[in-house]
Amino acid sequence: MHDPAAHISQPTTVNVDLGERSYPIFIGAGLIDGDQIARFVPSSRAVIVSNTTVAPLYAERLTQALEAADKRVEMIALPDGEQYKNLETLERIYDFLMEKQVDRKTTLIALGGGVIGDITGFAAASFQRGVPFIQVPTTLLAQVDSSVGGKTGVNHPRGKNMIGAFYQPRCVLADTASLDTLPDRELSAGLAEVIKYGLLWDEDFLDWIEANIDALRQRDRAALTEAIRQSCLIKAEIVRQDEREGGIRALLNLGHTFGHAIEAGMGYGRWLHGEAVGAGMCMAADLSHRLGLIDTPTVRRIETLVESAGLPTRAPAALSTDRLRELMDSDKKVEDGRLRLVLLGRLGQARLVDRVADEDIRATIEAMRATD
Ligand code: NAD
Ligand code: GLY
Repeated sequence: MHDPAAHISQPTTVNVDLGERSYPIFIGAGLIDGDQIARFVPSSRAVIVSNTTVAPLYAERLTQALEAADKRVEMIALPDGEQYKNLETLERIYDFLMEKQVDRKTTLIALGGGVIGDITGFAAASFQRGVPFIQVPTTLLAQVDSSVGGKTGVNHPRGKNMIGAFYQPRCVLADTASLDTLPDRELSAGLAEVIKYGLLWDEDFLDWIEANIDALRQRDRAALTEAIRQSCLIKAEIVRQDEREGGIRALLNLGHTFGHAIEAGMGYGRWLHGEAVGAGMCMAADLSHRLGLIDTPTVRRIETLVESAGLPTRAPAALSTDRLRELMDSDKKVEDGRLRLVLLGRLGQARLVDRVADEDIRATIEAMRATD
């Protein structure tokens, strides 16, 4: 018989320090079965929001852990995919909560990747003007990025994450054992965000990622735990300094303006978010080089790392330069009609640049589109 306690290890904890909205990120194997989560559910009821892929894998165990602490648990499994991260799916959650007569103290628990985390977070932020919320991220991308920092929301057909709110969870439970069932392509997508932290904030971490990229792709548990811990430390520090993206938090969007244009242009779900970010970071590196900020060996080093993580380094040939350029203007990084781009000043140091000439952006897109 499955003994849940047998594989639970002592978790590593990273704290997100936001005054009264502070919360812990627990990182470790077997946390889904542990007793931490129930301590963050303030009333007797919780609703797990998951999807049709993740629920069969982990919902029963999470339910048992909560029921062991006398919580009443209900669950809704949404269709799986970025294409369902929209207002229609959000309405399905509201309908379920109304049908179950959920009250304002009931906790919503997001069990899944970034899509489930973002949409559940927004449901929690808006249902009855806000109910308690917990993140149980089960993809690498969600464990290193989307579950931390309180950005929640859904896509509009014309732009990623256009409708949403800042809403912090009460805790994040990153069970590293849940990554065992993650497809390789999704693991690589998560590595894009790990590389992003090294590139934008910490050159030593970037060196560490380069040295450990094979171990990470082979799912070495210790390497993954360290990558998640370091990534969460960096994100927690940036969010602590700038919770609502008035300044440096925008640096976390390195590669995302190009990446969001790829995702929207290809149709949500065709390219994974992390894949689009991988190519987007290479495009940001090319543009940084074009503007004289970094040298050619640095650009090559970034491309080699992105490639060795199993990610694309070029934008899809299917999207024309005009189309990509047009889609970039729908991104949230446009302010006063001017596109603000995150570029690299050097490795481990990103900067916001808002006066990039259109010819340079177009030259990068042209040079960085795949040829086939
Ligand atoms: P995802 O949520 O679509 O999950 C990827 C796939 O893996 C899905 O098919 C999912 O069902 C499956 N899956 C999840 N966990 C699994 C497991 N343990 N075993 C097997 N399969 C599993 O994608 P994602 O990469 O986790 O997240 C991408 C989303 O996150 C995008 O919508 C992006 O915009 C968003 N995001 C948000 C933030 C933020 O700060 N809020 C940051 C980065 C990305
Ligand atoms: N993923 C970008 C942010 O959280 O700000």
